[in-house]
Amino acid sequence: MPYHLATAHHLGVETPIRSIITPVPLARSQRAIRNDASYPRPFGVSTNGGFEPVRALPSVGALFALPSVGAVLVAVDPTLIAWQIGTVDAFESAARLAADAAGAILKRRWHDRGPVEVKSSPIDLVTEVDRACEQAILDVLGSAFPDHAFLAEESGGRGSHEFVWIVDPLDGTTNFAHGYPQVSIAIALQRGGETVFGLVYDPIREELFIARRGGGATLNDRRIRVSAARDLASSLLASGFPYDRRQHADYYLSFFKAFMLRTQGIRRAGSAALDLCWVAAGRVDGFWEWKLKPWDTAAGVLIVEEAGGRASDFRGDGFDAFGDQTLASNGLIHQEMVEVLLALL
Ligand code: IPD
Ligand code: CA
Ligand code: CA
Repeated sequence: MPYHLATAHHLGVETPIRSIITPVPLARSQRAIRNDASYPRPFGVSTNGGFEPVRALPSVGALFALPSVGAVLVAVDPTLIAWQIGTVDAFESAARLAADAAGAILKRRWHDRGPVEVKSSPIDLVTEVDRACEQAILDVLGSAFPDHAFLAEESGGRGSHEFVWIVDPLDGTTNFAHGYPQVSIAIALQRGGETVFGLVYDPIREELFIARRGGGATLNDRRIRVSAARDLASSLLASGFPYDRRQHADYYLSFFKAFMLRTQGIRRAGSAALDLCWVAAGRVDGFWEWKLKPWDTAAGVLIVEEAGGRASDFRGDGFDAFGDQTLASNGLIHQEMVEVLLALL
């Protein structure tokens, strides 16, 4: 996917953060920007040079279309301009823009995180950055697909449509609240209840995981595959604990202990969406967690499956994003993980 992000100061000497760029349409687009006398201003790149403003987005700036080269552009703040050029899949294009808008907010607020509030319990946290990221994502996606339905962690459900966008604006809020750099933005698109597109963006490492059903999984536009670990004894696993862990500590720890005794190690990193992507990328061999939500899992599970892995509930039956058991693996150790889980259910 041709994609580019540059600061306003660097326009003309752009610093690509994604490696794949299509030179010809990019050059046309750059000319269009440079020719605009009103540039740089957050809403300034508008009608001159062929850009048509589509819609002003209060939280991120503005969204533009350049029909001649199929470009969309969003100004996320006065110093950041992101644009995307070429023949683009409309869903992926919008989701990438939404993730970049949220990622820019997350990075800008990394040292200015604001107050931390609690939700369902004293360990279920939310910050104004979660809400700002969600607003930015919904602005971009809602503007691109006004008829679609949305299910977002902080603002809930909206609309009814065969296409439903499922959004976790900040997966790893506890990490974020402590400045622990393991966070992500997760965006999935379901059609008739089936996840057809998934994106997870780690803005700290600038790692973008994407999968389309039937189209494979990528990390920064390169194909990824699950690991080749053949058994638990040679595996590294990832997991996490649900928000009722204080009430059921021994029960959840019994699963941790069982896997601890059978594997080379377990990591508890604090962003389930990234844990799943790390299964997909072969960095860990399997993952299990209780009571995750669809916004934690929908995108990552598709990425695992498209990377050649497997997802299910703890019995090995079909994965349900709205269920309370998530098991994902490279496929090779799946049955062994099911057996460990089944013995404790
Ligand atoms: C949380 C993270 C964490 C998992 C929690 C989730 P949030 O999401 O994914 O890894 O253990 O169960 O709720 O609340 O930071 O979006
Ligand atoms: Ca989450
Ligand atoms: Ca979240």
